[in-house]
Amino acid sequence: MAKFAVSSLALSFFYIFQLSNAASTTYNVIQFGAKPDGKTEATQPFLKAWSAACSSATPSIISVPKGRYLLKAVEFRGPCKNKITVQIDGTLVAPTDYRALGNSGYWILFIRVNRVSVFGGNLDAKGAGFWACRKSGQNCPVGARSITFNWANDIVISGLTSINSQLTHLVINSCNNVLVRNVRTIAPDQSPNTDGIHVQSSAGVTITGSTLQTGDDCISIGPGTRNMLMSSIKCGPGHGVSIGSLGKEFNEDGVENITLTDSVFSGSDNGVRIKSWARPSKGFVRNIFYQNLMMKNVENPIIIDQNYCPNNEGCPRQSSGVKISEVTYKNIQGTSATAEAITFDCSPSNPCRGIKLQDIKLSYMNKAATSSCKNIGGTSSGVLMPESVEACPSGCLPVWTCPVTKGQTVVDLPAANVLSRLYYIESADRLRQKDFPQTTSEPKRSVEGMRLDKNRITHIIKVSVRSKGLKFLRLVEKSVRYCV
Ligand SMILES: *[C@@H]1O[C@H](CO)[C@@H](O)[C@H](O)[C@H]1NC(C)=O
Repeated sequence: MAKFAVSSLALSFFYIFQLSNAASTTYNVIQFGAKPDGKTEATQPFLKAWSAACSSATPSIISVPKGRYLLKAVEFRGPCKNKITVQIDGTLVAPTDYRALGNSGYWILFIRVNRVSVFGGNLDAKGAGFWACRKSGQNCPVGARSITFNWANDIVISGLTSINSQLTHLVINSCNNVLVRNVRTIAPDQSPNTDGIHVQSSAGVTITGSTLQTGDDCISIGPGTRNMLMSSIKCGPGHGVSIGSLGKEFNEDGVENITLTDSVFSGSDNGVRIKSWARPSKGFVRNIFYQNLMMKNVENPIIIDQNYCPNNEGCPRQSSGVKISEVTYKNIQGTSATAEAITFDCSPSNPCRGIKLQDIKLSYMNKAATSSCKNIGGTSSGVLMPESVEACPSGCLPVWTCPVTKGQTVVDLPAANVLSRLYYIESADRLRQKDFPQTTSEPKRSVEGMRLDKNRITHIIKVSVRSKGLKFLRLVEKSVRYCV
């Protein structure tokens, strides 16, 4: 009896196991009436296949065989009963007239789905007409993002190619656990707002092995994104990998724990960028890690822009409330397309903290590129170019401090505690070491055009000295490096 009970239990386990791993049911869109001719609208057949798969208690496969399928705006809605694999061997094409997607905001939308994988597929949104409309300044519809996942969990997107999106190619919004692998997005350099991949309000997104050539950001990361990993990305043309723009709203979620490694930027406007509008905000950016990046002729390889305001239109012109901290740049090499390879333009009211630079080698026309910094604190180590590799004796810990715009003090640095001494200006061409000043009564004066390599401070364009307390060293332009 006991023996029988055990084996019957084992049997029923076996049965359940069989059920949940039962061979998937395949739903072929052709069987639902789709015509692979690129002319006959296939929206309804696709929706019917989806609805069959979604209500299936066992795992299902939606198969899209070779051929071209004309789709209007389409919404694949969950929740579904089991996991769904969408295997696309063909090309999905949008109507030639961009107005057909109209104001829907999306072309292909997956919403409230779990455990959906999309394998393969070409998407051709035929965005050119829409871009032309926008460029001519006519009254255009809002436009459509090519493929969007909203409120979705456990998603795989693998081997997808998207060309000529009206707006962003792939959007991941309010999702958890998403893997994007071997994806290509392609749109011309000058096509407006055709970001490659936009991620927002999501956790656990991984993007790997993808080639992104676009007219806007290769990847843009919006508020509320955390625990994101990007690796083996090829970006360019495009506007780089951007966190932001942030600070659009006062009440905005932060961005944290984002890693980008082993990637190449070619001819892009930016490499790694963090951008925020200059207005109050509760937002933040922290624990960001950029490592092993190759820059090939990139205009701004490393940039933090807290005065973000494209086209200089309607700029808030306040001070950004977005707090940026613990951003590490490690082993970033290659060429800058402009003289200034590193730009840190941080908020005067919320200076960037914990900026770490290690092994940075960026050149411009075969010379060391330059950098400029406002309101940052942090450290640097290893080989550093731009800025005075030779100015720091080996073994010293250069502390990268950044001058501010006129009227601001530089002493409020997180790194100040590692400075046992500071340098101060003795005369127009001499710097003198001094104990960290608790009280100083230097007369107010300023000098210009200093370059004191021996004293290990280089490239100060303008310095003014103030008399009271800690506010004795004020840098007006350019960065300065101290070694202790
Ligand atoms: C940071 O994100 C990675 C994924 O990129 C994740 O594995 C890790 O656990 C996260 N760390 C924290 C502290 O949440």
